[in-house]
Amino acid sequence: MSKEKLIIFDTTMRDGEQSPGASMTKEEKLRIAYQLERMRVDVIEAGFPAASDGDFEAVQAVAKMVRDSQVCGLARANERDIRRCGDAVRAAKNPRVHTFIATSPIHMEKKLRMEPTQVIAQAVQAVKWAREYTDNVEFSPEDAGRSDIDFLCRILEQVIKAGATTINVPDTVGYTLPEHFGALIRSLRERIPNSDKVVWSVHCHNDLGLAVANSLSAVLNGARQVECTINGLGERAGNASLEEIVMAVRTRQDVFPCETGIDATQIVPASKLVSGITGFTVQPNKAIVGANAFAHEAGIHQDGVLKSRDTYEIMRAEDVGWNANKLVLGKHSGRNAFKARLVELGVVLPSEEALNAAFKRFKDLADKKHEIFDADLQALISEEAIEHLENENYNLVSLTAHSETGELPYANIVVLEDGAEKQAQSQGSGPVDATFKAIESIVSSGAELLLYSVNNITSGTDSQGEVTVRLSKSGRIVNGQGADTDIVVASAKAYINALNKLHSKLERLNPQL
Ligand code: KIV
Ligand code: ZN
Repeated sequence: MSKEKLIIFDTTMRDGEQSPGASMTKEEKLRIAYQLERMRVDVIEAGFPAASDGDFEAVQAVAKMVRDSQVCGLARANERDIRRCGDAVRAAKNPRVHTFIATSPIHMEKKLRMEPTQVIAQAVQAVKWAREYTDNVEFSPEDAGRSDIDFLCRILEQVIKAGATTINVPDTVGYTLPEHFGALIRSLRERIPNSDKVVWSVHCHNDLGLAVANSLSAVLNGARQVECTINGLGERAGNASLEEIVMAVRTRQDVFPCETGIDATQIVPASKLVSGITGFTVQPNKAIVGANAFAHEAGIHQDGVLKSRDTYEIMRAEDVGWNANKLVLGKHSGRNAFKARLVELGVVLPSEEALNAAFKRFKDLADKKHEIFDADLQALISEEAIEHLENENYNLVSLTAHSETGELPYANIVVLEDGAEKQAQSQGSGPVDATFKAIESIVSSGAELLLYSVNNITSGTDSQGEVTVRLSKSGRIVNGQGADTDIVVASAKAYINALNKLHSKLERLNPQL
């Protein structure tokens, strides 16, 4: 007998993007959307169209491109937000408008300054506006985890009558516990007379590390949509992680009465894509997508796995895409093979010129590194996008970094600033520190360095290092990325990329609610 469907609603590009520094450009959103659709995500929440013109355009572009998944935009419960959202998702094959208003006493009183009856009226009106655009309307009572259940029953009955087709129950501040949250979903379904007319959804935050547990408890109590993000990205401690939800439901089919339609082999590529774009690296021991998630270190474990994998493995690494990072190309691969692999990865370069430039980078990399993997190509394309952005401001021309035991390291750098070559030398506690100081002595950005991290893209000492630099200036936080087989060069590229984003005239999307 076939099981009920559990709808996977991905909000990486909306709630995930609300993490400071995780803002994405339209092109980045299109790449993520392509991968989400490939993974067979049911609903893609592409952004918050009323937040900025940039986010409106990004949601619209995703709506135009995606064909199989539903495309959703978020809107507060006011007419302007909903009309912006409706217009942005209109081109989608299956558009959804997601509107919300807070329902907890603290939010209604202190944030909205509205009486509960006014909140109900506003919510009902919002759903009616949304229905002018689509019959696929989702309503969320924000901070439901701290709302009064009698009030939730009243407002939700009314919005269902007004035409909402999905009711999403958010634990906005990550306050609830699994048993209580599951019971809340069950009670709402049992007490609201028209509850059978809608799909019940949950949206859990991870402030107490319980987002996945709370979501799964809700599923066991009748929720049939889970809102989640790749790598658990999201506000503060993040949202429920998509990969953990999907694999828990799949691995414990003995317990769950439903199943997802996700192609799990696309999980690791999606994780790498999102961490590469946002600069939020994945901790090695993170479930499913961490580098060590399938590594057996203890001798006794290794011995068991060699005798029979299921002694210590409840899932197979290849089922979640760990082997998808195929050896793809090498030094002798031609332009057509390169282009074909990019197409398979969902990367469409805007022009022949861009393809030629990316191919040249590929050849340069193949000279240094004999085996080129998908992850290398992804990094290379990000580099290409970075170059694009860089045209306006700074470019790295050359770098010499020197370190020697017993000597103070120094770096000598040449940077193109608005077309003019500038050179500087600086000492530092290490070659990276010296490089950053040398760059600063040219650009004098005064930005504060919030984060510096290095990750190897593939394994082996010839791997490219992928560096993330997070800078903050005047309340703006940006992430810069750079990749190179030389990590000092990768660091310089990342720092310059972050500076370019700070100076960029291109509006980065930053839809903080
Ligand atoms: O956490 C939350 O309450 C939200 C809503 C907008 C669904 O993100
Ligand atoms: Zn949220």
